[in-house]
Amino acid sequence: MESFGIDALALAVPRSFLEVTDLAVARGVAPSKFVEGLGMGRIAIASADEDPVTLAADAARRLLATPGVDKESIGLVIVGTETAVDHSKPIAAYLHGLLGLPSRCRVYETKHACFGGTAGLLTALDWLASGSGRGRAALVICTDIARYTLGTPGEPTQGAGAVAMLVKASPRLLALEPGVSGSFARDVADFWRPLDRKDAIVDGALSVRCYLDALGGAYATWAEETRKASGNPDDLARRCYHVPYGKMAKKAHQHLSELRGLDAAAAEETFQREVKPSLRFSAEVGNVYTGSLYFALASLLDAEAGELEGKRVGLFSYGSGSCAEFFAGTVEPGAGAFVRMLDLGAPLRDRTRLGIEAYEAIRRADAQVDTRDAATPSAIDANRVAFLGVDGGRRVYQ
Ligand code: HMG
Repeated sequence: MESFGIDALALAVPRSFLEVTDLAVARGVAPSKFVEGLGMGRIAIASADEDPVTLAADAARRLLATPGVDKESIGLVIVGTETAVDHSKPIAAYLHGLLGLPSRCRVYETKHACFGGTAGLLTALDWLASGSGRGRAALVICTDIARYTLGTPGEPTQGAGAVAMLVKASPRLLALEPGVSGSFARDVADFWRPLDRKDAIVDGALSVRCYLDALGGAYATWAEETRKASGNPDDLARRCYHVPYGKMAKKAHQHLSELRGLDAAAAEETFQREVKPSLRFSAEVGNVYTGSLYFALASLLDAEAGELEGKRVGLFSYGSGSCAEFFAGTVEPGAGAFVRMLDLGAPLRDRTRLGIEAYEAIRRADAQVDTRDAATPSAIDANRVAFLGVDGGRRVYQ
């Protein structure tokens, strides 16, 4: 039977980061609260010339440079984001131009908070499995800049980045299971961002409860569908959760373990083995909203793809507001060697540490970033796509 799933992956992150310990000192909080209490390390901070388009373009350029990835085969481009740059024109349209993709292509954006990227991935999977793809591939990109107001509890959980995924038949990394998934939706006011704001509004404690309720609901449906498809819901070797901050993935695993009848010691033991390897990248970049689950998957594959070949991995996506999905995939034979070649963590190594003053100056300028004149000179890194500003109201990229 033909398989469909994630063939290749690539990440992009802003060139600067802030150590959460520096943020803790500036906010008069014990650093251990951010590091152990939230499970954070560094948060990626986007500069004025970096936006969700440039991050998406950098991730996609890296993906398209991967051996065996054929740009001309792409017939569908879906960008999942909750930090779009325009109410009408999708990031996918900017990318279509920046990447020089074929004109025989369907391009659009999907939104449902952090779930938007998963909506894109599962739509691409259905497009392939239904035969509508006619042998072509889909490019699915999750891109976001997570911002909370300075000094609020969400601030240490900010982040930014993009994940580009090539989704096709006979994938080299992860074969997904079309039609076998568990969705859960409920209208809640846990986290939102009104149209005139760059930073999100959140009821933190409620958001944690909503995430855990959605996990329970989505998992129960997925387990039922898995049994109907003659599968075993207990055969997951690893579990990747949406990671707004590392501790949330731990809370998720504890909750799921309890629902599965495991005691606290078993939850801790399985957390170390099944979840921890997926948390390294997110501790380096913070919350990437739509991309967070896929940074977790990339982190897991980077650490263990070789030993996971032939094994099944569970994936949980949560978007505030809310919509969630639990689904699974099997790591393909040969994925270990392929992932070593991909060097997924490379973009995280080449970054600059910001001081607190520089970070706050960037955040204070957020409100003017989208309207600055594209002709204003700025220091541009020739190896990256840059947002220059606007010219006659149009966004200009180089
Ligand atoms: P807070 O005020 O830091 O919460 O806000 P806290 O005071 O309860 O402290 C957090 C943890 O630190 C606690 O541990 C404390 O005990 C511990 P826990 O009880 O949770 O295990 N702690 C310490 N540990 C070590 N040393 C110390 C110390 N002091 C305290 N000295 C909150 C936390 C997550 C609410 C906040 O950061 C926030 O609002 N974040 C944004 C919202 C969020 O991430 N929600 C997660 C679920 S919703 C979601 O994932 C969707 C989302 O990605 C958006 C989307 O879908 O688009 C956000």
